[in-house]
Amino acid sequence: MLKKLLHSLLPFFIFFVTIIPQEATKIGDFTYDDFEKPEYCGTSCHTDFYQQWKQAMMSQAYTHHWDEIEYFKLAVPHAERDEKVAEVKEGCNGCHTPIAYISGDNPPPFPSENSRANESVSCDVCHTITGFAGDIPYNFNYIMSPGKTKYSSRKGDIDSPAHQIVRSEFHKTTEFCGICHNEKSPYDIWVKSTQLEWKEGPYAEENVRCQDCHMTKAETKSATMGITYPDTKLHLFHGAHDPGKVKGTIEVRIHPDIREVEPGDVVKLTVALFNQKTGHKFPTGSVEDRIVWLHVEAEDSEGNTYHLPVDKKGFEGEEYTIAADVLAYQDMGVPLDMPDFKGVQRDAIPFGNRIFRMPYFDPQGRMTIQQWNTASLGVDYRFGPRETKIETFTFNLPYEIAEGKVKVTATINYQKLVTSVGKFLEVPDEEMEVIKVGEHSTEFTVFY
Ligand code: HEC
Ligand code: HEC
Ligand code: HEC
Ligand code: HEC
Repeated sequence: MLKKLLHSLLPFFIFFVTIIPQEATKIGDFTYDDFEKPEYCGTSCHTDFYQQWKQAMMSQAYTHHWDEIEYFKLAVPHAERDEKVAEVKEGCNGCHTPIAYISGDNPPPFPSENSRANESVSCDVCHTITGFAGDIPYNFNYIMSPGKTKYSSRKGDIDSPAHQIVRSEFHKTTEFCGICHNEKSPYDIWVKSTQLEWKEGPYAEENVRCQDCHMTKAETKSATMGITYPDTKLHLFHGAHDPGKVKGTIEVRIHPDIREVEPGDVVKLTVALFNQKTGHKFPTGSVEDRIVWLHVEAEDSEGNTYHLPVDKKGFEGEEYTIAADVLAYQDMGVPLDMPDFKGVQRDAIPFGNRIFRMPYFDPQGRMTIQQWNTASLGVDYRFGPRETKIETFTFNLPYEIAEGKVKVTATINYQKLVTSVGKFLEVPDEEMEVIKVGEHSTEFTVFY
């Protein structure tokens, strides 16, 4: 009888067990002591991975100058002043220093105090993740299981003396990265969507994952006493802070519509820009900070130069994609306690240049670099993966242009942070470095 009853209840039992959603790891679930220090993993065993990680942004996500400035100068004071964004005081750390976040160390000590928060996104953050809560990976919805068992995509034949390994298919997926590379603001707006962009693009169809470009495979060892695998996943995590990774992302070709002209003629120049390199949009990630622009300049045979403004296309929101003399980012006045803050230059590059960006707007509709204060998004004029964009330039040749060859050069540049914002917040110049992504020149000849 009892057996029968149990049997009839079994399906319900299984049903309940399988539908109980797993919750994301949250503040208070674990403490610093539950996690290994990266030095422990990297000093004698995973020496190469450790050194690779050390020089990637992953190991500096909490300590890096611009991160420290944005968190302590803007985000924390903003969270204290505006109830709507109060959650970011803790939330930033959920991705930038997950162990501090979970330990309830929010805000953590300053980087100069050398606390364990400085470990940032450490080995044991990623290798204790077993999945994510819900349907979409975003806003640090990781599920973690710290301890002597490490989760990774390979379980070799040799056992590690330091820990057990459980083979995790999850580490091979892009969803794993999406946990931190997709972000929604307190206003429910996608302010980071690298993994979602990838999912919509051509690389997803071909199963070329984040790991294939940022953790490339090579024939080497993954641990000093381990064996050599043909496809060991390097821990390079190279991105915007590696000029070599950024260079060549966009290929540039420029041509005139006519090769032989007279002063006063009109030459139309066409630029084709091909995103050959990124698996997501370009720029991606911290889109609110990044600026990518096309600069076209002609030089006549006597060395006179003419800067050419881009031809307007007429789409909605285009004004945000052409460099202009306007102020923006007024909402920095809230955390900085400058109620009448007028803002700084929006673009800080030569006026008339085409900008490839997606503007983020604060609740008052002004452009913002505070992604947590983003209430809406503007036109998305970035490069999709493998997309080619066309831009045209109309050159009304001046009557004084010199006879002979005119060389026209199209340059596409990238900057991690708009110069005016960086200067205003006293961010070190390296963050505002201009990286030349691509360049091409063409010629036509002026006859008198
Ligand atoms: C086909 C190769 C490729 C794939 C696939 C790819 N990336 Fe990238 N990624 C690049 C290149 C090239 C850059 C450098 C240009 C740039 O900054 O966008 C880059 C840049 C980045 C950056 C820095 C962006 C910035 O502006 O700060 C991040 C973060 C990043 N990738 C994460 C990811 C994640 C997460 C995935 C998977 C969802 C992924 N990438 C998939 C090639 C790739
Ligand atoms: C941002 C997350 C992240 C961090 C930080 C990280 N790893 Fe990994 N690691 C991964 C992923 C994802 C894989 C599997 C990639 C795949 O299979 O495509 C991996 C694979 C590995 C592997 C197996 C490599 C192979 O090919 O067999 C080892 C060993 C490893 N990691 C050790 C470390 C150590 C040590 C550190 C710290 C120095 C570290 N990881 C930091 C995400 C991370
Ligand atoms: C636990 C959160 C977390 C996970 C999981 C994670 N990342 Fe990141 N990643 C970050 C943070 C935070 C940064 C930003 C560091 C900074 O600039 O402050 C970052 C930076 C990067 C960068 C460097 C961008 C630059 O500016 O140079 C790349 C590339 C990158 N991640 C790729 C990946 C890939 C690929 C995966 C999946 C295998 C992954 N990340 C998983 C949190 C994470
Ligand atoms: C959902 C995870 C997540 C949250 C939450 C998050 N970040 Fe990030 N943050 C990232 C990732 C991933 C990157 C790297 C993107 C890229 O390279 O473009 C990044 C990049 C940055 C950068 C740019 C780093 C650079 O050197 O260019 C700054 C600054 C930053 N975050 C600060 C913050 C602050 C402040 C908060 C809280 C208001 C915050 N982040 C919340 C994941 C997150």
